Amino acid sequence: MQTKILDYTTQKQEALGQAKSLILSGEVVAIPTETVYGIAANALDGEAVKKIYVAKGRPSDNPLIVHISELSQAQALVKEIPEKVKLMAERFWPGPLTMIMKKSSLVPDITSGGLDTVAVRMPKSQAARDIINACGVPLAAPSANLSGSPSPTNADYVFADMNGRIPLIIDAGPCEIGVESTVISFTGEKPRLLRPGGVTFEQITELIGETELDDAVLNKLVDGAVASSPGMKYKHYAPKASITVVKGTLEEFVRFVQGRDCFVLCFEGEEKHFKNAVSYGRADNALSQANRLFNALRELDEKGADTVYARCPETSGIGLAVYNRLIRSAGFNIISL
Ligand code: TXA
Ligand code: MG
Repeated sequence: MQTKILDYTTQKQEALGQAKSLILSGEVVAIPTETVYGIAANALDGEAVKKIYVAKGRPSDNPLIVHISELSQAQALVKEIPEKVKLMAERFWPGPLTMIMKKSSLVPDITSGGLDTVAVRMPKSQAARDIINACGVPLAAPSANLSGSPSPTNADYVFADMNGRIPLIIDAGPCEIGVESTVISFTGEKPRLLRPGGVTFEQITELIGETELDDAVLNKLVDGAVASSPGMKYKHYAPKASITVVKGTLEEFVRFVQGRDCFVLCFEGEEKHFKNAVSYGRADNALSQANRLFNALRELDEKGADTVYARCPETSGIGLAVYNRLIRSAGFNIISL
């Protein structure tokens, strides 16, 4: 299969037209969002959704997020919309927030990975919203990487993973945030944060009160345990290199890597201390780290890195999302100096 790229800025009408006709004929299309690029299909068409799993090489028990452009579309996908979801939607939609609710029978089992719940998100990216509107159906869309790889934050990285596997990529430039949406479940007694992202834990608890932090956010799932979010149990965001996250000051870190044959994943401005360094944002700015992390992981591969030691980010605000992705890319290899 030939994979075509259409530029959303300069070829908008053509991009919208082709995305619509492919998606409505049961095909998949890579689309931009403000978090990362996704591979989209009609969420209500089980046969089309199957093609997403095939293109990504994704296990079929890992459910997909259903993307909407209007609040009214959510109603039909779920049994009921809890009050707290309404509050959250009012404040954070459109935006990098995914909310899990009990699903209605309209959502095919393959879209929800066989679960009786469905994840719903209203993205902020204008291109994403235009594409959903043009199609007139909700779009199931996981991140547009091969399963296990870092999520793509630009069309070139989508192409690198998906060339020959999907017919079309819509290119709207680099993603604004760079890590995937916050995922929060409203199916239990209390709201539960399953994946941190651009909407922070602090913002959530401030708005809706007590919210549980799922164990899998900060820890490796114990063998045999059932994951609240199936995606948490798979190896994730992993480059070819083996990464170790190193907790400590810059000074301790510099001493630790001295004399080692390795690459370093450091913060901007720290490169001068190391022979082989790739940076991922500023030490004091978590959003800049989120912006850079997945690209930096891919750059390490491009440079042929084998062993990588990574500086550890702060875990407040969007830093929790950065830390969550980094420790997964490191297979939970963490040391403290
Ligand atoms: O920012 C994003 O969320 C991007 C863009 C494209 O919107 N999408 C994305 O999708 O990151 P994906 O499939 O790569 O990650 C979705 C995560 C997975 O860990 C999945 O297991 C979890 O959400 N998830 C989806 N539906 C769920 C459900 N019903 N219950 C629990 N976890 C669910
Ligand atoms: Mg993903």
